[in-house]
Amino acid sequence: MAREFTSVGVVGLGTMGAGIVEVFARNGIDVVAVEISEAALERGRATLTGSTDRAVAKGKLAEADRDALLGRVNFQVGLAALHSVDLVIEAVPEHLDLKQRLFAELDRVCKPEAILATNTSSLSVTEISVATTRPNQVIGIHFFNPAPVMKLVEVIRTVVTSAEVVADVEALCARLGKVDVTINDRAGFIANALLFGYLNHAVSIFEARYATREDIDAAMKLGCGLPMGPLALMDLIGLDTAYEILDTMYRRGGRDRRHAPVPLIKQMVTAGLLGRKSGRGFYTYERPGSPRVVPDEQTPAATEAALADGARVIAKVGIGNARSELASPAVVTKVGIVGSGTMATGIIEVFARSGYEVVSVTRGVEKSATVCEAVKTSLNKGVVRGKLSEAERDAALGRVTWSATLEHLADVDLVVEAVVEELSVKKALFASLDEVCKPGVVLATTTSSLPVIDLAMATQRPADVIGLHFFNPAPVMSLVEIVQTIRTSAETTATARAVCAALGKTGVVCGDRSGFVVNALLFPYLNDAVKMLEASYSTADDIDHAMKLGCGYPMGPFELLDVVGLDVALAIQRELYLELREPGFAPAPLLEHLVTAGYLGRKSGRGFRDHTNR
Ligand SMILES: NC(=O)c1ccc[n+]([C@@H]2O[C@H](COP(=O)([O-])OP(=O)(O)OC[C@H]3O[C@@H](n4cnc5c(N)ncnc54)[C@H](O)[C@@H]3O)[C@@H](O)[C@H]2O)c1
Repeated sequence: MAREFTSVGVVGLGTMGAGIVEVFARNGIDVVAVEISEAALERGRATLTGSTDRAVAKGKLAEADRDALLGRVNFQVGLAALHSVDLVIEAVPEHLDLKQRLFAELDRVCKPEAILATNTSSLSVTEISVATTRPNQVIGIHFFNPAPVMKLVEVIRTVVTSAEVVADVEALCARLGKVDVTINDRAGFIANALLFGYLNHAVSIFEARYATREDIDAAMKLGCGLPMGPLALMDLIGLDTAYEILDTMYRRGGRDRRHAPVPLIKQMVTAGLLGRKSGRGFYTYERPGSPRVVPDEQTPAATEAALADGARVIAKVGIGNARSELASPAVVTKVGIVGSGTMATGIIEVFARSGYEVVSVTRGVEKSATVCEAVKTSLNKGVVRGKLSEAERDAALGRVTWSATLEHLADVDLVVEAVVEELSVKKALFASLDEVCKPGVVLATTTSSLPVIDLAMATQRPADVIGLHFFNPAPVMSLVEIVQTIRTSAETTATARAVCAALGKTGVVCGDRSGFVVNALLFPYLNDAVKMLEASYSTADDIDHAMKLGCGYPMGPFELLDVVGLDVALAIQRELYLELREPGFAPAPLLEHLVTAGYLGRKSGRGFRDHTNR
């Protein structure tokens, strides 16, 4: 028989605690909600009423249910009110000494059979448990932010947590409508161990002025389908909490430099820029606690408008001569696209549908015929799906001329190169383009891993060379990474931005570093997931679950690796490791072995999972 939980206590009503109170009260459980002072108690009460009022306004909660929910919560200052609850969950700040003192006190106050749980994200549950006389009844119940929304709960058992307590807590999670994964006590558990290296890396990219906050966030949302960008997520988590989590993970998790908090985080915490809760973090919010971002000096409204209409563009970030200069984009009406693969085909369609005159150049008449067929097939699918009319399809096709010689690019305004990912081939092509194209043309490469500067230096006009990294499938994915080298001119960047805007794409500007924004932030996380699996900490299914249900990712890391291809992931990870020399970026041995064994993912029928019978 599972234990009955009729009343629970929640200690600390900040970002997490207030949400956890709501989860219990929504599910018919009485809650004693405890804070350290009257003022903090009022803040916690306001968070809970604000959240439930929003649920009512959105039609997700009936007024009567809200009133019943609030009626189940008994707000109190001090721990004494917790004497008769069946379980206490603590959500006070992430400091070991504070939590240990609190647990010692809870041990004295609570009835002997009560379970004592911590919502810690990174501290050792074992170390917290030994501050009590009942370590076998101490457990981690790690909710995700926002607690009422995110489905995942990580249940952390220590070596002494009793099996009954684990089973009771798992049954409680099910009653709360949550999905739990039960794991051992290790720094960061599953989700944070995979998330925080990525978040810290994103902050370091921002700190290095490699891309703007908006561009970093847009890249990860649009390139990976994440619900929020990393900097917006840091603001939601709270920079003080994030700092403590990173710091603990660094110390407990083998001093991996990727968890050493980026200096900017500490500076922001010291300056009181804690994120949403203080009204200002990486972004500025309407008021403390509000989710609404408002313009600030980094992105005044006027600049946003200027960027939107593409008239005059400020190339705000970037390296070398493009920084902080006003520049006018060149007029682009005719575009050359070189290549005959998946990317070239998609990019031809994108430009032709947006009204550009397109010259497609391949290495032979037969290849041109194949590409032409592929573009037609894709446009026809669009017609069938009602995305464009037959007349629009015909007009788009009418704008494309098919050629097998580069000389036909003599009068285009922009060239997009999408040939095989080999440096020697691309360099030779750029040297030829330099001879063929008129002056002032923007020469762009779609490379996803080669240095753009190598291609720029193959020409006599490096200022006109830039990366336009489209994502696959190009007609669907709205992100384009605009990669500036140290020689790219502000005008070239301005033209690239204006073209992306005209294509209806979101162009994010970044520097010429391995992986640009998306791959640099995505692949180390995937590699970390492989290392976690290799260490037998958890299963591929649970890790996938944790990232989907705890962080709202559209796919778990192993699902995604099987789609991307393990060989592709390994190649990208090797590049990142070679360029940045970061020990933590070394490819996971398991990934190397799977690739050697021919387990490449869906395309070979087997990767982390067997796809032959699916
Ligand atoms: N923020 C997140 O996204 C997140 C997600 C999951 C878990 N966590 C974990 O949850 C815990 C709380 O984090 P948070 O972000 O909610 O912090 P927070 O700073 O937003 O809230 C902490 C609250 O605890 C109160 N408090 C401090 N000392 C107290 C005491 N002795 N008795 C009662 N209340 C006290 C504070 O007044 C404050 O309201 C941490 O262990 C954190 O790692 C945070």
